[in-house]
Amino acid sequence: MTFYLSRALLEDLPTMIDMESELFGSDAWSPELMVAEISHPHSYYVVARPDGQPEVCGYGGLRVVPGSGVGDIQTLAVAANFRGVGLGRLLLEALLSQARSSGVREVFLEVRADNDVARALYEHCGFVAIDSRVGYYQPDNVDAIVMRVELSPAQTSLAVGHE
Ligand SMILES: CC(C)(COP(=O)(O)OP(=O)(O)OC[C@H]1O[C@@H](n2cnc3c(N)ncnc32)[C@H](O)[C@@H]1OP(=O)(O)O)[C@@H](O)C(=O)NCCC(=O)NCCS
Repeated sequence: MTFYLSRALLEDLPTMIDMESELFGSDAWSPELMVAEISHPHSYYVVARPDGQPEVCGYGGLRVVPGSGVGDIQTLAVAANFRGVGLGRLLLEALLSQARSSGVREVFLEVRADNDVARALYEHCGFVAIDSRVGYYQPDNVDAIVMRVELSPAQTSLAVGHE
């Protein structure tokens, strides 16, 4: 399956907000927070569409404070009917590629301790668990696992289309 990745635009938000509440349940960000996230000057959000189709089927976000050398994966989501074909990894690689191009040398993220699929994906992409935050996800009272990956300096980078 082929997917087209592009920078997220404000017009992508309604679909992303619907997906967010469907996929993350009680952990979902509010629509206001989603707007703030995408609009933030240090954010880099990417959306994916199945080739030739208009509907967003996945998204991911990165935050890099310029000059810090450090990035954070803010979120990653793939619609249920597009999972298991490599899109999650594609989105994550696009974010890591952007981080590398911005001079980032280490990237952090937090993931629910009970999210085995996401943890496996992150481990597959080189992330290592370095810490935990007890009861971070409420009201479920689930711990967060903090993960980190070290990036090698950019040699080649992936270009994501800008519409
Ligand atoms: C986590 C998520 C983004 C993965 O997306 P995906 O497109 O299905 O993932 P991919 O197909 O790219 O799979 C990449 C890797 O993830 C792991 N993975 C994917 N599906 C898996 C499953 N059902 N069981 C175990 N591991 C799985 C594997 O390591 C896989 O690599 P492999 O195919 O080489 O074995 C998706 O399940 C999702 O959106 N979940 C809900 C939101 C969420 O939890 N986001 C993460 C927040 S931190």
